[in-house]
Amino acid sequence: MSNFFDKLKPSSLFKKKEKQITFEGKAPKHVAFILDGNGRWAKNRSLPRKAGHKAGAETLEKILTACKEAGVHTVTVYAFSTENWKRTDEEVAAIMDLLDAYLDTILKRYEEEDTRARFLGDMSPFSEKIREKIALVEEKSAANSTNVNVCLNYGSRAEICRAFDLLREKGITHATEKDISSVLYTAQTGDPDIIIRTGGEHRLSNFLLWQASYAELYFTDTLWPDFSREELYEIFGKFSKTVRRYGGYDDSSENKSGITSGVTQ
Ligand code: FPP
Repeated sequence: MSNFFDKLKPSSLFKKKEKQITFEGKAPKHVAFILDGNGRWAKNRSLPRKAGHKAGAETLEKILTACKEAGVHTVTVYAFSTENWKRTDEEVAAIMDLLDAYLDTILKRYEEEDTRARFLGDMSPFSEKIREKIALVEEKSAANSTNVNVCLNYGSRAEICRAFDLLREKGITHATEKDISSVLYTAQTGDPDIIIRTGGEHRLSNFLLWQASYAELYFTDTLWPDFSREELYEIFGKFSKTVRRYGGYDDSSENKSGITSGVTQ
């Protein structure tokens, strides 16, 4: 398959217009996305589901750019769950093609984009070709400064089971919260400040259950392919006004426990 993003359509005019969209306050440092609604987006247009995933991949590119331009340091995306294998062979194959093309794109652009890509999850069921490309992308982009975590064949409960095994291997029997965080796939990039789920459902679907403890949760009815920079920045604007109490209380004259606004964690 030829290059993933080269096939994508955004016109430069549209891009220019999008770049003027802004928001008040500071962006969160770490944003996580549950990309839901590709299938319904396609169905609404009488298109095959794979067309929805292709449109979703185009949106992913735009939103990653928008996050970067807003100053987000880490983006974590739920691209393929442990349950997604239950889809038809045709749909799984279409997503694998998009993944393959995405990997080619990163390999081509990792220097100019300055993004470090990590793939979180159990990679063993993927084809050898995909696994080799993933390893190459991770190696080549390792010196870059901002992060994109792509969760593939990922499930949070499986991640926690794996963490138990890793702790046991380390001989840790009385684990601290720090110990547990250190053996999760997100050990290097930490917990998200916000999790945004498109597609109208109000649940986490086995995504970052440990890491979501203090995250702000945003749910939107917008189907992922229609999710825009404008809506993202609206959410960032709201996020920057939230006060995160971490179980403490907010009293700016007597701040007891490092209570912070959404952006200064
Ligand atoms: C959820 O929508 C989306 C997915 C399971 C796949 C997401 C994949 C991409 C955005 C493209 C691939 C990109 C990479 C980097 C692998 P859904 O199909 O569950 O939508 P529905 O709820 O409307 O059916």
